[in-house]
Amino acid sequence: MLVNIIGSGIVGLSVAFELALSGHRVKIITRNYEEGASWVAGGMLAPFSEGLGGDMLSLSIDSLKLYDDFVYKVKDISNHTIFYRRDGILRVLVDDEVARFQNLAQDYSSMGFSYEMLSVEALRKDYPLLSEEFDKAILFKDEGNVDAQQLMDALIFALHRLGVQIILDEVIEVKKEGKRIKCVKGFKDTYNGDFFVFTPGAWGNAHLDIPVYPIKGQILKIRGLDIDRVHYSRIAYVIPKESYVLIGATSEDVSFDHRRTVAGVRALSNNAVRLIPSIDRCEFVEVNVGFRPATPDEMPIFDRGDNYVVSAGHFRNGILLAPVSSKIVLDIVERGLESEYFRIFSSERFPNGNHTDKAKKEY
Ligand code: GLY
Repeated sequence: MLVNIIGSGIVGLSVAFELALSGHRVKIITRNYEEGASWVAGGMLAPFSEGLGGDMLSLSIDSLKLYDDFVYKVKDISNHTIFYRRDGILRVLVDDEVARFQNLAQDYSSMGFSYEMLSVEALRKDYPLLSEEFDKAILFKDEGNVDAQQLMDALIFALHRLGVQIILDEVIEVKKEGKRIKCVKGFKDTYNGDFFVFTPGAWGNAHLDIPVYPIKGQILKIRGLDIDRVHYSRIAYVIPKESYVLIGATSEDVSFDHRRTVAGVRALSNNAVRLIPSIDRCEFVEVNVGFRPATPDEMPIFDRGDNYVVSAGHFRNGILLAPVSSKIVLDIVERGLESEYFRIFSSERFPNGNHTDKAKKEY
């Protein structure tokens, strides 16, 4: 099959990767393949630390289970290094979260995932850099941490090796007839094919009738902090990579305002120093901006027609959800198998269609 993928964030690239591996001819059409939030994402694989539940938890767990294999394949085909750890995330709790997270941890454990509720003594001994303001934390042992930028680089490289064409073009119209895409028109060319996959990221409402809108995140990069494991708290998350540490992230409903702001840097630095005081003495490297693709209920959208799939609105969890999102597409294209997630995460749950402005105000 000739498959056109519109969009080049982690979901678009992962879908292209799996389809190309299965022998399909794949083209990616993108305005700018370095524009997506994936390039600056924290890369935490953290469904438990995020406190997810219900269908969103099931989807995330399905993806977490695919992650080892996904990273292994991308590494193997790209021959690139990808920083990837699965040794857990320390979820630092503030007082009003304790009871909720104790219950959640028990639920997760009953599903077969491991956790450890740390005593104050263990916390002080094993995490000596953590501020003494915090004395409760859970180690979610199955969670992970991937360098999203390295993963994106490796995917681009792997796609080149697999013969995937990445075409720089801006979509101006999606021509649809009933439940079929006739073609996608760009400024430079018109794209025909057997199948289309729309992975539009935060730009989801531009040509598709879905309520997706950007939530800006600013994220700091620092150096000189010696921690091994992600420290995730409600006020800040500190994410060690191979040669630097990320501190995330602001959450701003300001459309596509790409400015790095003093207020953003100040809030992130203050919160991070409150969590780990020695961050004050670290080297400040840079601050980056990304736009999370949000929906009104903060859950993704999976829609399908006769010859297309929409995979959108991954919001805070695009990196985590990439493997399951590509499996969902692969199952349709290869086996005609429709995942139950199309029913659960259909855009029909938003009965007013693409009321992005309304969704934004209610957010
Ligand atoms: N996944 C964390 C964030 O979006 O800030």
